[in-house]
Amino acid sequence: MPSTSRSQNAAPPVGVPNDLDAFWVPFTPNRAFKRAPRLIARAKDMHYFTPDGRAVLDGVAGLWCTNAGHNRDPIVAAIQDQAAALDYAPAFQFAHPKSFELASRIAALTPGDLNRVFFCNSGSEAVDTALKIALAYHHVRGEASRTRLIGRERGYHGVGFGGISVGGIVANRRHFGTLLAGVDHLPATYSREHQAFTKGEPDWGAHLADDLERIVALHDASTVAAVIVEPMAGSTGVLPPPKGYLQKLRAICDRHGILLIFDEVITGFGRLGFAFAAERYGVAPDMITFAKGITSGAVPMGGVIARDGIYETFMRGPEHVVELFHGYTYSAHPLACAAGLATLDLYRDEKLFERAKKLEPYWADAAMALKGTPGVLDIRTVGLTAGIDLTSRPDAFGKRAYEAMERAFHDHGLMVRITGETLALSPPLIVSEPQIGEIFDKLTRVIKAVM
Ligand SMILES: Cc1ncc(COP(=O)(O)O)c(C=O)c1O
Repeated sequence: MPSTSRSQNAAPPVGVPNDLDAFWVPFTPNRAFKRAPRLIARAKDMHYFTPDGRAVLDGVAGLWCTNAGHNRDPIVAAIQDQAAALDYAPAFQFAHPKSFELASRIAALTPGDLNRVFFCNSGSEAVDTALKIALAYHHVRGEASRTRLIGRERGYHGVGFGGISVGGIVANRRHFGTLLAGVDHLPATYSREHQAFTKGEPDWGAHLADDLERIVALHDASTVAAVIVEPMAGSTGVLPPPKGYLQKLRAICDRHGILLIFDEVITGFGRLGFAFAAERYGVAPDMITFAKGITSGAVPMGGVIARDGIYETFMRGPEHVVELFHGYTYSAHPLACAAGLATLDLYRDEKLFERAKKLEPYWADAAMALKGTPGVLDIRTVGLTAGIDLTSRPDAFGKRAYEAMERAFHDHGLMVRITGETLALSPPLIVSEPQIGEIFDKLTRVIKAVM
């Protein structure tokens, strides 16, 4: 619809009221939100603060991203210093030193020969980048027929067309047309019947990886480029991988020359007690996508880590010609690189990944103590994450969890995340044992209040 309200040359307006109308809030029911907005003005360490100064304990690290805690002084200072020294350097044909430094530091955290880092600005961009690298990789090595991409039901890979195509969350797909062609999906790994109330990786479900053999047989391996999965599916409600499942996927991909991509946008940077889930599970994928925790949420950044062999496959042809026609204006933005370096220093100096690993049993026990609370159908934990499934209100799927999130924020000073009828938790890795107790005490009261 053409705008009729202002001439194209009008100066920016002054005195526009700061009401809630103009901002279309993402992944949020706007009308309900604007009736009772959950506003945040400030943050420090484990807490958010509302505009009127009320403290809210952060049970979700913002959006699974502030792993080092909020507004940490070294990260703030690094961003400030960088802004004063270099605001922007072109991402194509030029570079700044911190981009190389950060890539080397990330490569040092990954297993095996996952050593080549491509930067972008979000998890969604990271996923689309990895999928494009997979397609281009097969193309340049002479197997251009490998164009199929395999994702998984209940997978979340962001909101780009690539990500929603391989993703398996129906609501994220159904309004957006035909998506990418040539995509298939593995079955989800969750079964309440076989896995309810499991701490860590469930015993049941490794066999679900065998479905990849069926899919490959159906399409023929010569048409399949890559498989992408989250090692632990976060956004769909915390679904840890069954024991042995990822190893099986790796073996099947190897058998058929298919690239395996781990989407570690949530699991990267300590969430499961290791730098990457690949290390926790002893399975090295061909590419890892990351975002969120790389800057502890302070500046947008994402990226793909590829094995040496993938990078080297592109390094052919005349040296003055671009090898991969892909990139973003803000790839390796100076502010993001500065924030990333300061964040990695904090993770190292405060041993935050090890801290998450040590806290995992305490965290899991605290979460499982909710078992038996009326209305709690299942609890899953792995690393410093938990998914808690609630019973639905009749004919209103998701309403109880929504109400729980509202009450937690407004009445109990706790931030939780919801997906469907599941409450999801993933606190900053600096969380203390008393704060873990506080999170689950508050949550118990919230759940009782909405039943
Ligand atoms: C596994 C995974 N991939 C991709 C994304 C998308 O990241 P972003 O929202 O930064 O685009 C997310 C976001 O939660 C995620 O959990």
